[in-house]
Amino acid sequence: MDLAEAGYDLAIVDLLEPEMADTAELLRDKGARVMTFAADVADHARASGVVAQTIAGLGRLDVLVNNAGRSAPRGILEMTEAEFDRAIAINLKSCFNYIQPTARHMMEHGGGRIISISSLNALSGGVTAAVSRFAYASAKAGILGMTRALAKELGPKVLINAICPGVIQTEVETHITLQSEKFTKGIAAGRLGCAQDVSRLVTFLATSEPCFMTGQALTVDGFQFNM
Ligand SMILES: NC(=O)c1ccc[n+]([C@@H]2O[C@H](COP(=O)([O-])OP(=O)(O)OC[C@H]3O[C@@H](n4cnc5c(N)ncnc54)[C@H](O)[C@@H]3O)[C@@H](O)[C@H]2O)c1
Repeated sequence: MDLAEAGYDLAIVDLLEPEMADTAELLRDKGARVMTFAADVADHARASGVVAQTIAGLGRLDVLVNNAGRSAPRGILEMTEAEFDRAIAINLKSCFNYIQPTARHMMEHGGGRIISISSLNALSGGVTAAVSRFAYASAKAGILGMTRALAKELGPKVLINAICPGVIQTEVETHITLQSEKFTKGIAAGRLGCAQDVSRLVTFLATSEPCFMTGQALTVDGFQFNM
């Protein structure tokens, strides 16, 4: 929503078609041209098609935000190989899938910005000890290595950064909402995060001129010190 307000046209990729259609309408109300793609971000070939169609439809691609992700709460003693592969595919390979065709376009057309949503889990290993998210944490940590390496490979034309959100109240984390008092006690800012805490940072990284930041992992967690 913040990117639409900043004047960007948008292409959205998600598995959930009705939700995407609702979001597209809200974005169009802000004056943005919007394309939607019902696609699995883990699908490499589909990613190339989505990026090509986006460039054809909107004329150019200046900013990529790798936001799709899914938690994988299961310990190493229980997780199957297929579940592990899927967690890595959704949370890490998806970034490769979308960065590759996007970077090709950006390197040929004057540059751009790439922002990948990692997680505080990449740094902490997980918010609580109660539920292991080792596969998710591994994938999200992989994003940080990918970000640093690609900052060198794609710079100075393409600036690429990662964001590590702490506990953000969204649909995926409804269990956290139910226990928000417990979580809030360990956050210096005294509250859980909201979607805008992340989207404002995304918009800053996408639009800031000049921008001397690349290859970074930016934590937005209200200083989560004790959970
Ligand atoms: N909510 C938090 O506390 C929190 C904390 C740290 C990081 N994150 C990360 O922030 C990002 C956004 O998460 P959110 O909390 O808004 O969750 P969300 O579930 O609201 O959004 C994630 C979106 O990704 C989509 N998605 C999942 N798998 C997909 C796939 N294979 N292909 C296409 N789309 C797919 C979902 O349909 C959903 O719309 C994720 O990468 C998540 O890992 C969230």
